[in-house]
Amino acid sequence: MTLLHGPGLADAFDRSAPAYDLLVAANPGYHAQLRLAARRLALPGGGAGQHLLDLGCGTGASTAALLRAAPRARITAVDASAGMLARARAKRWPPGVDFVHGAAESLAGAGVTGPFDAVLAAYLVRNTAGPDAVLAAVRGLLRPGGRLAVHDYTLTGAPVHRAVWSAVCWGVVIPLGAVGPGGPGLYRHLWRSVLEFDTAPAFRDRLRRAGFADVRVSPVGGWQRGITHTFTARRPAADR
Ligand SMILES: C[S@@+](CC[C@H](N)C(=O)[O-])C[C@H]1O[C@@H](n2cnc3c(N)ncnc32)[C@H](O)[C@@H]1O
Repeated sequence: MTLLHGPGLADAFDRSAPAYDLLVAANPGYHAQLRLAARRLALPGGGAGQHLLDLGCGTGASTAALLRAAPRARITAVDASAGMLARARAKRWPPGVDFVHGAAESLAGAGVTGPFDAVLAAYLVRNTAGPDAVLAAVRGLLRPGGRLAVHDYTLTGAPVHRAVWSAVCWGVVIPLGAVGPGGPGLYRHLWRSVLEFDTAPAFRDRLRRAGFADVRVSPVGGWQRGITHTFTARRPAADR
């Protein structure tokens, strides 16, 4: 199978959006891990006076996690799928949380220009056709010293973690996705994209090559240990 990217991927998310929240609710720890990823940004003062970007916000699960970590911040949440965004917008949000329809590859065209104090990208970068270009754009949107957290399925490279990932996808995720409105295509893409994307050490190195400083890789617990990681990093303070 070929991986989905760009408009094809946005269409697949549009079709799957009505069942997306139900599906992730079946994943133990999904929301808790997003909250952990947002806390790993270590935002001071509840985010007071800060402007944050949730890139690839989907139905707003990562936006809610960011809001929990930084309740006093202004948050701009962006997604390429109109269907996912509609689900996000339908939830209750305080003033200061805004949703924007746009692709990570063309944020300026969507009016998203920054600078941001921090960016959270949960389950996003792996889905882009050009991860290096997206990381370069994110670095450019951060103020110098600004923080990045990328949270995603990124395998260690050990055979056991590849095997667990495939077993969970083919035993649970793809069959559950198949009964939803979008069918199994998006979830087959999920399985394959994780196997083909960077391992955790390779993604750490990709962040360093993209010019980020203080790059750290942190695991999560439970069955996703060795499968899901949060990468935290900073735009160098001297970066102009
Ligand atoms: C797996 S969902 C994760 C949503 C949310 N961050 C969360 O943690 O629940 C990935 C989201 O990224 C969006 N996405 C994928 N590629 C994108 C791109 N190039 N630009 C913007 N959004 C994109 C999809 O539309 C989808 O809503």
